[in-house]
Amino acid sequence: MTTRINPSILAADFANLEHELGRIATADLVHVDVMDNHFVPNLTIGRPVVERIAQVSPIPLDVHLMIEDPDRWAPGYAEAGAASVTFHVESANDPVAIARRLREIGARAGVALKPGTPVEPFLDVLDEFDQVLVMTVEPGFGGQAFMPETMPKLSRVAAAVRERGLDVWLQVDGGITVDTLGIALEAGADTFVAGSAVFKGDPAEQIADLRAAASA
Ligand code: DX5
Ligand code: ZN
Repeated sequence: MTTRINPSILAADFANLEHELGRIATADLVHVDVMDNHFVPNLTIGRPVVERIAQVSPIPLDVHLMIEDPDRWAPGYAEAGAASVTFHVESANDPVAIARRLREIGARAGVALKPGTPVEPFLDVLDEFDQVLVMTVEPGFGGQAFMPETMPKLSRVAAAVRERGLDVWLQVDGGITVDTLGIALEAGADTFVAGSAVFKGDPAEQIADLRAAASA
């Protein structure tokens, strides 16, 4: 199984982004957290900054939108150069329409679920998406503890993807470390976001350790 390690730059030094992007060049995609202070109680960066990151990053962008009204704003991030754009279902009016628009622009389309959000409504339309992000913490902040109670939901998506032979990446985000990664891998995840675990030390070493855990 192909697995991916996507460092989150939420834990990077925002005053030295180009340098930080260089330090994670051995990863698969760079996870970029966009927060609007409405959908979550935190504010990060928006489209103009994402567009510049896309221009200088050595690896493709995996944008995670934690915002209201993704129906209106998500396509702009695909236009800004993101390889993948994931929006939250809780704030989306028409998730399938957003996904189709993202694909039309040329990005992978992802749908994200908070820990308490059921996945069942999406199991029938999984082929409309390229990625399902099962949040393993409440979105909004880095450095929180992994929530193992989200794993049964992940297993259900993994089973549906397998049964239908779909190419849908299963992403986990929040509290991923060399220790918790195995739990999510076991439940069926293949794409691992890690912020604090990558930037706490030498990012290249941490990425290598996470990679080893993901191929165990
Ligand atoms: C949280 C963000 C995550 C965050 C993860 O809402 O979506 O991407 O950066 O950080 P860690 O890996 O520190 O839990
Ligand atoms: Zn994220």
